[in-house]
Amino acid sequence: MKSTGSARGKIILLGEHAVVYGVPALVAGIDREARASVQRASSTSILLAGQPLEANDALFEALSQASDLYGLGPLELELELDLPSGSGLGASAALGVATARALAHLADRLDEATIWRAAMAWERVFHKNPSGVDTTAAMRGGVLRYVRGEDPTPVRLGQSLEISVCVAGPPAPTAAMVESVARLRDRRPEAFTKNLAAIAQLVENAEPTLRSGDERSLGRLMDLNHMLLSSWMLSTEEIEAAREIARGAGAFGSKLTGSGGGGAVLAVGPSAPILDAWRAAGYVSFVAKIGT
Ligand code: PMV
Repeated sequence: MKSTGSARGKIILLGEHAVVYGVPALVAGIDREARASVQRASSTSILLAGQPLEANDALFEALSQASDLYGLGPLELELELDLPSGSGLGASAALGVATARALAHLADRLDEATIWRAAMAWERVFHKNPSGVDTTAAMRGGVLRYVRGEDPTPVRLGQSLEISVCVAGPPAPTAAMVESVARLRDRRPEAFTKNLAAIAQLVENAEPTLRSGDERSLGRLMDLNHMLLSSWMLSTEEIEAAREIARGAGAFGSKLTGSGGGGAVLAVGPSAPILDAWRAAGYVSFVAKIGT
């Protein structure tokens, strides 16, 4: 018998990378999901969007790490994804949580703590040193303030907010981007610590703007967060081009989201003209409604 699970992707509004070092991040679940369906089998196989994966694909290792916690043998896993992967939108965590939920059903062990551990074991295969922000957003949804190692705090928005999202650059491996930031920290620890403190301040200031729906201030804070992430060499020409287009279409602010080095850009402001401008330039883009 097949067991199923699903989980959402996410956008990091502010605080990515710094969250690895204990700074709070603001993250929101989005309306695009991963789905997993799993059943016992004589040998392990994985289908992603209907295509069988080669046995050396990292997803096999991720599945083995997650299923070990449930003591399950060989499995047939089918995955579907409504999110672009490698774009900072939490695809691997959404797949991990969806799979962990399906495994939990199969093993009839539905406690959230084990689902979390299984999803984090999965995520470690791709992210090496994950802060847990993606897994938390995939499990909880909504808008959250997340600090590594702590329970997240929900952020209640006065009204829902539209964030425009475009896939600006080629996929970028999160683990490599996190490692490149760690190297910068080793080389210039003092400058690094100052950046962390500045990002922490932006996150603190952003929370009330989310609550009150002050999009202009939120946009300015996103621009500033983006500048600090750029100083860690996480932006790219493609990301800057997408931000420029958003600015031209009336965005109040924009930033990379997730690991950077490619991937998605967020913009706050009038979503219809921003999306039209991005689409006219050939970008895949959509609106994420948060706080609904
Ligand atoms: O995997 P991504 O691109 O969604 O980024 C995750 C966020 C980071 O802060 C860059 C890494 C982490 O584990 O928090």
